[in-house]
Order: sequence, then structure tokens, then C-alpha cells
Amino acid sequence: MSNSVDNTTGLAGEPSPVPMQYTTLNSGAKIPMVGFGVYQIPPAQTKQAVLEALKVGYRLIDTAEYYRNEREVGQAVREAGQSLGIPRDQIFVTTKLPPQSSYQSAAQRIQESYEALNCGPIDLMIIHWPGGANVETYRALENARKNGTVKAIGLSSFYGSDYQEILDKCSVVPALDQNETHVFRQQRDFQPVLEKHGTKLEAWSPFAEGEHDVFNNPTLKKIGQKHGMTTAQVMLRYLVDRGIIVIPKTVHVDRMRENIDLFRPEFELDDEDRKAIVALDRRRSLWNW
Ligand SMILES: NC(=O)c1ccc[n+]([C@@H]2O[C@H](COP(=O)([O-])OP(=O)(O)OC[C@H]3O[C@@H](n4cnc5c(N)ncnc54)[C@H](OP(=O)(O)O)[C@@H]3O)[C@@H](O)[C@H]2O)c1
Repeated sequence: MSNSVDNTTGLAGEPSPVPMQYTTLNSGAKIPMVGFGVYQIPPAQTKQAVLEALKVGYRLIDTAEYYRNEREVGQAVREAGQSLGIPRDQIFVTTKLPPQSSYQSAAQRIQESYEALNCGPIDLMIIHWPGGANVETYRALENARKNGTVKAIGLSSFYGSDYQEILDKCSVVPALDQNETHVFRQQRDFQPVLEKHGTKLEAWSPFAEGEHDVFNNPTLKKIGQKHGMTTAQVMLRYLVDRGIIVIPKTVHVDRMRENIDLFRPEFELDDEDRKAIVALDRRRSLWNW
């Protein structure tokens, strides 16, 4: 395994309601290896979906200003404290800000997300994609970390010179880089680059958004049948075994359960499985990222 993973306790030291693995970011914060993404969940459905996910056992929620559902994520997190008895410090909330053209506008957008979520310090805030004044935007995140609005900071879809520029010109090493990662784009070259600097890889679209009929892929189905796992579980377990944090999205409760149920003792992928999955790697983005 290419990453240190701790499988015993939850964020606040309590046992997780479902078997879960955690890893530690360079900020010192613990983060679950499996989270819940809310991209394309309409705001009107988001609060309910997040509450369902929390009930199932998810403790990492991934939103963004761009998704227009930060407010509803925050409502669910606050309500979970009352109706589900899940304290705020057991839930890891991530949000993202689009790249900004100046430090001031970045600082303002961070404050807006903080207020929209309205659930205390944001566990992790990341730049959603490169393309603006990346360094100034990141410096605003560094300042938010210093003043306590945000606990950890990072990036999304930053590669090569964009990632290197942040390392060279900023002082806080990004805690993670959330990048397109799935069986068709496995990031086997870039993950070691990130890890060398202490940045974790987190997978966005870990199911490739269902592209290329991935849920019916014969290779993945065969591996699943061998271990009593679904195709979705094979895809996620492969990434988690490599130390990659995953944030699958679904609006169906049965699939929420399926996607987090990865750590049964019989669900071990072997070398033959891994070799077959590596052969699916196309080593490029499905969407030009
Ligand atoms: N940083 C970025 O730029 C970026 C970009 C994309 C995504 N993300 C993050 O990553 C998260 C996940 O990515 P994503 O939402 O693009 O796609 P994804 O998680 O790869 O795939 C979601 C699709 O898979 C289906 N699905 C989920 N579980 C399933 C299962 N067990 N069996 C069959 N189908 C299943 C969902 O349908 P149903 O909902 O109908 O079940 C949905 O159509 C996002 O929600 C977001 O938080 C970040």
C-alpha cells in the first residue's frame, strides 16, 4: 500500500458505525478514505441525500461553491447533530472555490462559503481548478487557515507546473489534490509525485461517471464475481487500496450502502485482479482535464 491508512477510529476517536479506513493529511487532520460527493445533486434534494449518507455511515461530504448546494450540506450537518446524534467534529466537510483573479476576491469567496455552510470551520477547502490567479487564490486559503475559517487547504485538477508553482511560491504544502481518477485514468504516474511532497490524491468521479458502460465492464464484473463484490465495490476498493481517497456520488440509499461497504475481510483484491485493472488504464482524461 502506498499510503498510511488507519482503520480503527473515527474523526473524534469514536468507533465508526461502519468499517472505515482513515488517513492523515499533512495538516494532522484525519480523513475517511470513503466519502460522499454531492455534485449534480439538486439543492432541493441535497439536505436529504446528505442526511441519508450520514445515517448510512459516511463522515466525509464533498461539495463546492460551483454545485450551489453548500447551504443544504451545512443544514444537513447541523441537523445531524440534533436528529442523528452525530457531532460536528465527526464529520469532515470539504468545499471548493473557483480560481479567482485576485487575493481579495478569493478571500471574499472563502468567507461566502463559510457563511453558506454555516457549520463552523471548514475541514478542507481547495481550489476547484487552475486557471485564475492560482497563487493569490491559494494565499487567501493560507490566510483562512491561519485565521481558523478553514482547517486544511488543497487543490483540484492541478498537475505539473500548476502544482509546482504552488509548492514554489506558497508556504503550506497542499493537503490533497482532488483529481479525475478511475479505472480508465489511474494516475499511477502522478500519485507518486504528489506523495513525494506530502499531498494525498483524492479521486473525483471514481466511477468515471458511469462512462463507457463501466458498471458492466466484463473485467470488473469478473473480479467482482470472484470475491462476491459488485463492480462499483471493485472500482472503489482498487483505489482505496492504493491510498486514494474516494468520494462517489449517488442519490440512492442502497447504492450509498454498497459504495461504503468495502472493508469486509473477504473483499481482498489479489495481484491478478490488480493486473487486470491496470490493463484498463487509458492514461488520459475522459473530459480533457
Ligand atoms: N473537483 C472536481 O472538479 C470534481 C469533478 C467531478 C466530481 N467531483 C466530486 O466527485 C464526486 C463523484 O464524482 P461524480 O459525481 O462526477 O461521478 P461518480 O461518482 O464517478 O459517478 C456517479 C454516477 O454513478 C452512479 N452510481 C453511483 N453508485 C453506483 C452504484 N453502486 N451502482 C451503479 N451506479 C452508481 C450515479 O447514479 P445515481 O446517483 O443515480 O445512483 C451517478 O450516475 C462528485 O459528486 C463531486 O463531489 C469533483
